[in-house]
Amino acid sequence: MGRDEVAVESSFSSQSKKVALALACLVALGACKSAPPVSQPVQFNHAVHVKALQCNFCHQYVQKADFAGIPPVKVCATCHRGKVSGSAEAEKVRAFVKERREIPWQRIYRVPSYVNFSHRRHVLLGGLQCESCHGDLRAASTPQPRPAFAISMDRCMACHDERKVDTDCLTCHH
Ligand code: HEC
Ligand code: HEC
Ligand code: HEC
Ligand code: HEC
Ligand code: HEC
Repeated sequence: MGRDEVAVESSFSSQSKKVALALACLVALGACKSAPPVSQPVQFNHAVHVKALQCNFCHQYVQKADFAGIPPVKVCATCHRGKVSGSAEAEKVRAFVKERREIPWQRIYRVPSYVNFSHRRHVLLGGLQCESCHGDLRAASTPQPRPAFAISMDRCMACHDERKVDTDCLTCHH
């Protein structure tokens, strides 16, 4: 258990729950690198939306920036000002839209702050599919409680090796 492990946990988020988790990890000597399952405020359904919409309709920055972006409620408002179905979850979205309140989504994928990662680089320049890192969301009817693949250095390295991309430490660490 070293300084880096603490950095991983503390850069994750400052929310008290996660601080508590970090402390628990310290106590358990780093036994819990994988975060607990996340439960989202609305049971978002990727499957019904990706039939008609591209991923970047909602994740607007995925080809332009390091981050992909979680859609603000104004994106949902395009269709959810009225009742779209009998679903209670869709009604929750309508209420957020009406009250102009952001839906407090929780992120499940995050690299520590000492790691360089860019979506633009991988998706646009590298031509990689989202599935290679996030699994198949086209069939997901509820939010994923945990990452399809945990973000680990081994995983980044394995693909870089396979595709003959730079694996020098300073490629990913500054
Ligand atoms: C282009 C239109 C469109 C946009 C944009 C859109 N939705 Fe929907 N959404 C729909 C339609 C249509 C349905 C009903 C689908 C059905 O019942 O087959 C739906 C259904 C839902 C449901 C119910 C799913 C279920 O399992 O019954 C939820 C929850 C939902 N949307 C959340 C959102 C959220 C959150 C956003 C913004 C991030 C969003 N939608 C953006 C059109 C849209
Ligand atoms: C209608 C908007 C919409 C579309 C289209 C959409 N997403 Fe999402 N996506 C969301 C919302 C809202 C969340 C947060 C709730 C959840 O995790 O389900 C999310 C979460 C995610 C996450 C988890 C991010 C994290 O760290 O928590 C990934 C990965 C993702 N989407 C990938 C995709 C991919 C790949 C596609 C296309 C196949 C796609 N999304 C299409 C709205 C959308
Ligand atoms: C090479 C692996 C890789 C590919 C390919 C990839 N992602 Fe990601 N994704 C990640 C990593 C790593 C993170 C965490 C990044 C961070 O913390 O800055 C992430 C985070 C996200 C998030 C969380 C929110 C945010 O702002 O970053 C969403 C949403 C997401 N990805 C969607 C997508 C979509 C949509 C695609 C395909 C168009 C895609 N990703 C392709 C690895 C990937
Ligand atoms: C599925 C394969 C795959 C995975 C997983 C992957 N990468 Fe990459 N990565 C690539 C490819 C391909 C490129 C080259 C893209 C291009 O052509 O510009 C790349 C390029 C990069 C670059 C730019 C390299 C340079 O020479 O400037 C960085 C930084 C990087 N990746 C970081 C990461 C990190 C951090 C992770 C893990 C969180 C990761 N990658 C996971 C395939 C992958
Ligand atoms: C392709 C991207 C990539 C390259 C190249 C890379 N790393 Fe990492 N590294 C990561 C990611 C992502 C993490 C955070 C996830 C994890 O801890 O596995 C990480 C974490 C670490 C940590 C913290 C580990 C821990 O358990 O807390 C150390 C130390 C580290 N890297 C050292 C190195 C050294 C030394 C090299 C060169 C031999 C290197 N890295 C090359 C992506 C990379």
